[in-house]
Amino acid sequence: MDHQAMSCDAPSAFLAVGQGIPAAAGLSLHEPASLLHAKDQLAQDASRKQPQQRPAAAGEDNRSARFYKERRYLLLEFPELCQQHPPQVIAEIGCGCGSSILPVLKANPTCRAVVTDVSPSAVEMVTAAAARAGIQQDRIQASVLDASVPPAEDSHLAPSGPYADCLMIVFTLAALPPSSMSAMLSHAFQALKPGGKLLIRDHGLFDLTHLRLTAESRRGRRLYSRQDGTLCYVFSCEDLAMKATAAGFEVIESSYVRTKLLNRKTGQAMKRVFVHGVFRRRMG
Ligand SMILES: C[S@@+](CC[C@H](N)C(=O)[O-])C[C@H]1O[C@@H](n2cnc3c(N)ncnc32)[C@H](O)[C@@H]1O
Repeated sequence: MDHQAMSCDAPSAFLAVGQGIPAAAGLSLHEPASLLHAKDQLAQDASRKQPQQRPAAAGEDNRSARFYKERRYLLLEFPELCQQHPPQVIAEIGCGCGSSILPVLKANPTCRAVVTDVSPSAVEMVTAAAARAGIQQDRIQASVLDASVPPAEDSHLAPSGPYADCLMIVFTLAALPPSSMSAMLSHAFQALKPGGKLLIRDHGLFDLTHLRLTAESRRGRRLYSRQDGTLCYVFSCEDLAMKATAAGFEVIESSYVRTKLLNRKTGQAMKRVFVHGVFRRRMG
C-alpha cells in the first residue's frame, strides 16, 4: 500500500471476485484480506438487524457474540500492528467483543492492548474472550469510556499521558453523529504518543450497507438510522481525512477499499466500499 498516497477517486469501480468460490460458503478459501473484511461486515450487518437489539452498543447484547469473528485481515491491511520490536502499546476505541484487538494480541506477542468501549458488557466480553484465548491478563486493559464526549484537558485513556503507538477505530466512528466524531478523534489524539498512528476502517459512500438504508432512515447528510436504532454514517475518504486533520492528525493515507462478493447460490453480487485511513500524530 502506498503510504504517502491519498487516493480519493470515487468508489465506482469494484474488484471482481475470481472463480473457484465454494457455493456453500459463497467465498474462496483463499480470500484476500478485503474479502474477509466484507464477509465479517455482512455478518455484523445481520447482527445489527436483530429487531430487539439495543441502540449504540453492538457489544452490549450477548446475541451479538454469535457473530463474533476475528478481523485478521487488519494485520495485513495495517502492517504496523505486527511490529514486535520495540514492543508496542496498541489501543482501540469501541473495541466491541474483541474482533479487532484479539487477532492483534495473538499475532503480536510483544504488544499490550488498552481498549475502551461505551458498553460495559462489551468490556466484560472482550476481557472474557481474551482470557479464553489464553492472553495473559497483563496484556489487555479494558475499560468503559464514552468517547463521544470530549476528553477533559488533563485526562487520557491511561493515567500517565500519551501512551499508545497505534490506535484503532474500526467500524465505530460511523456509529456517532458527525457532531461527536471530533470528540472521539480527540480521545485518539490524546492517547497516541507523538509519531503514533491512528488506524481507521469504516463504511464508505455507496457501500452495500449504505445502499440498503432507506430514504426514510436518513437523519442528515450521509447519516442514517439503522433498524436497531444505531446510527450509520458513510464516509468519503476526503471527509475522513478532513475530520482527522481537524483533530490535529497528519494524513498518511485515506483511501477506499472496494470489494465485490458473489453469492454463487443466488447469483447476487454484493458491493462493499470501506474507507481505510492511516493518520499520524506529529512529532513534537
Ligand atoms: C460495530 S462495533 C465495532 C466493534 C469493534 N471495533 C470491531 O472491530 O468489531 C462498534 C462499537 O463501538 C462502540 N461504541 C459506540 N459508541 C461509542 C462511544 N461513544 N464511545 C465508545 N465506544 C462506542 C459500541 O458499543 C460497539 O461496541
